[in-house]
Amino acid sequence: MNSTYDYQQRPMTKSVLSVVLIGPDEERRRVLGVAFRQQQVAITGELGAYPNFNHLAKLTESDCDVVVVDLDRDPEVALDLVENICSRNSLITVMAYSSDRDPELLVKCMRAGAREFLSEPISSTVLAEAVIRASARRLELDRQKKVSGKILVFWGAKGGSGVTTLASNFAIALKRESSREVSLVDLNIQLGDLGVVLGLTPSFTIADALRNPERLDQDFVSTLLVEHSTGVSLLAAPDHCIPAPLVHNGNLGKLLYILRDQFPYVVVDAGPSLGGSREVVFEMADAIYLVTQAEISSLRNAQRLASHLQETAIGERRVEVVLNRYDPRNSEIDEARITKVLDLPLKWKVPNDYLNVRRSLDTGVPLALQNTPVARTVYQMAREACGKPALPVKKSKWGLF
Ligand SMILES: Nc1ncnc2c1ncn2[C@@H]1O[C@H](COP(=O)(O)OP(=O)(O)O)[C@@H](O)[C@H]1O
Ligand SMILES: [Mg+2]
Repeated sequence: MNSTYDYQQRPMTKSVLSVVLIGPDEERRRVLGVAFRQQQVAITGELGAYPNFNHLAKLTESDCDVVVVDLDRDPEVALDLVENICSRNSLITVMAYSSDRDPELLVKCMRAGAREFLSEPISSTVLAEAVIRASARRLELDRQKKVSGKILVFWGAKGGSGVTTLASNFAIALKRESSREVSLVDLNIQLGDLGVVLGLTPSFTIADALRNPERLDQDFVSTLLVEHSTGVSLLAAPDHCIPAPLVHNGNLGKLLYILRDQFPYVVVDAGPSLGGSREVVFEMADAIYLVTQAEISSLRNAQRLASHLQETAIGERRVEVVLNRYDPRNSEIDEARITKVLDLPLKWKVPNDYLNVRRSLDTGVPLALQNTPVARTVYQMAREACGKPALPVKKSKWGLF
């Protein structure tokens, strides 16, 4: 079997499209490879079998522009594969390849998300047009990527609400779902523990950024970040308290501007309180996840924060209520009452899952890398944040869970 699972990096010449070929028939793959190379594209990977779950994840997280799927050996499995590639990474242009010109098959391919249908024998004119369309799409996506990133803030109704747990796992899920760079910032500056939760010991922290506001630029901020094994870049909180006057709107605003220019997504753990510096964070936020639990004092705080956000211009932004550790059988207060108190819909309900959360902390394996109820909700949140449709609840052969 001739399979290359190690996808090469995108070719240095930006204008060159990178293409991965998938098909069990070696001869057909060879013919496709020759035809594509004649169109000045780079074949950066070849799979001699329809990929399994791990290889599919690697493929959709890779930097390739186009994936060509040969349908003929097993059209049903191949179509399922097309659908999964498209739903996991909508930036990839998927092309289906078949000797069968049945219009019904073509419709199925398009429904699965394929952008091109290439018939065997391959025509160089048809292929050239398909490559031009894929290149134009790449250029447009590159242009969109330059737009400044989104700031997604997790804010707790009180300490212990689950902000750190949810923000850290959401950042990992967002990195995987969007296939784009994600930074995670600990703005619970005095008592933040994102580094501990992610098992990282950074040499530098946000304190270095706030102590040197005049030096703040992309290069300096890059040196303060530490990368988690999932690829998420963390700007951690220091392990000691820092003088409160250092934390003010000007410093924080500048830092967030720089991060937003550098990362498509900036996820913020705002802890339970941001003190006087919260306005700038909320003003810059594209979404605020208000994390609360279904008990009286938490809801009371959440209600105050929600109405504060509604009263200010910030209220026009997306505020999404996240009810954490929710167990409808053991809840003091039911959902209808919570919605009424907060005057906002309950957007997300994260189940109480003490065992898995504990195990994740003990083993250092983030929940977002496991099949757990908390992870399932966090992935849905991440998918919505990066514009992907919700995962179907049904179990899929290729699905995450
Ligand atoms: N959905 C959940 N199920 C079970 N335990 C949770 C859940 N979310 C958080 N926890 C636990 O609750 C505690 C507080 O969570 P944490 O994320 O540190 O809150 P915060 O950052 O808001 O203070 C931690 O021990 C964490 O492991
Ligand atoms: Mg915390």
